[in-house]
Amino acid sequence: MNWDKSKALLERARGSLAGGVSSPFRAKAPMPLYFSGGSGSRLEDVDGNRYIDYQLAWGPMILGYGHPKLAEAMRRQASLPFSYGAQHELEIAVAEKIQTMVPCAERVAFTSSGSEAVQLVHRLARAFTRRDLILKFEGHYHGWMDSALISYKPALEQMGPPDAPRAVPGSCGQVGNALENTVVAPWNRLDLLERTLQENRGRVAAVMMEPVLCNSGCLLPGEGYLAAAKDLAHQYGALFVFDEVITGFRIGPGGAQAHFGVAPDLATFGKAVGGGVPLSVIAGRADVLNMMFGGGVSFGGTFNGNPLSLAAADVTLDELARDGGALLAEANRIGISLRDGIRGLARKHGIPAQVTGFGTAFAIHFTGREDLADYRDTLDDDAEKLRRFLISALERGVQIVPDGRFYVSTAHTESDVNETLDALDGALGGL
Ligand SMILES: Cc1ncc(COP(=O)(O)O)c(C=O)c1O
Repeated sequence: MNWDKSKALLERARGSLAGGVSSPFRAKAPMPLYFSGGSGSRLEDVDGNRYIDYQLAWGPMILGYGHPKLAEAMRRQASLPFSYGAQHELEIAVAEKIQTMVPCAERVAFTSSGSEAVQLVHRLARAFTRRDLILKFEGHYHGWMDSALISYKPALEQMGPPDAPRAVPGSCGQVGNALENTVVAPWNRLDLLERTLQENRGRVAAVMMEPVLCNSGCLLPGEGYLAAAKDLAHQYGALFVFDEVITGFRIGPGGAQAHFGVAPDLATFGKAVGGGVPLSVIAGRADVLNMMFGGGVSFGGTFNGNPLSLAAADVTLDELARDGGALLAEANRIGISLRDGIRGLARKHGIPAQVTGFGTAFAIHFTGREDLADYRDTLDDDAEKLRRFLISALERGVQIVPDGRFYVSTAHTESDVNETLDALDGALGGL
């Protein structure tokens, strides 16, 4: 595959744009590609190469590229003011839709990115409980802010033992006292969660998690774990929070909370809710969210609830909710057929691997381990084999997230799956 034009653009970009890319996460092997178009499940780069895309802009493109109704809604909104910094009816329409879809959504607030939504949830939980500590889990990602980027991808030697884990900063320049207000625990272990709550009795404002550990290899919660973790959080006086920035409007129209039947007190959404346009949502208990109005909690955002984002969300949510969520059910079915096909190919080639997760978000792990339940279990995944697999897949026209994650949209079809499996047969065979 020829990437000459991408190479030239990267070279040019490095003279003006720091690092040549707009997010360090995108500086991936073999090189950052420049895209010029796309439609449905496919993307085209500036060299004219076409890819079946499972990166989906890191999740948001749940309806695929160039969805006609979404494009039309954006065009319509673009002919009207696309920011008022004031009230307009779409805010209510979208909030009401979210209320009907998401079990915990007694009230809704809008902001622009998942990272911002997490900040609001932290603040609300701290104000509501009058406590300082956020309990998070190793390997879970809640955005790049100082108070959240903790123990995301720590190295084994930094982490301490599972029953006494250390909070590990994720970046140089992060203030040290962020760590003082965070406690971490390994995920999917109720005994260790209870121990951490006990050790910090009376101090934990919120227990916050990705309900499926999408950011460390799409690991599913153990049977009954989410419900029991919620009970434990409440027993110790903490709020129970789901970060549904990935699972939201992807695992099903009501997010992981509807899928697993466990409603948190608060939840954050992002990515898919805007169908590709910046939008994030905080949903949850009215008594907690109303603390922003007379309860002393401050919150702002110039672009909160802007009409362009909400026009996109309005159409996206309509599509995802239609016919009882039929489109997402089908996307998840397609994803499962791809996930299971990849498992079969790994077996065929005698490659030790696990493919974990649900239909529209799953990940490949090159590992001899049978049971992957937590971030620590992924630490001996073969990163070099993954790197070679991703490059080989890309060269065969299949784009996958750099950590081995596959996102599937409602635009992917059975014939995409077959074409992908043919390509991955070659990629896995070449390992
Ligand atoms: C679970 C989760 N929470 C929060 C975020 C942060 O969202 P954003 O990148 O929109 O700030 C992400 C981003 O990947 C995420 O996956």
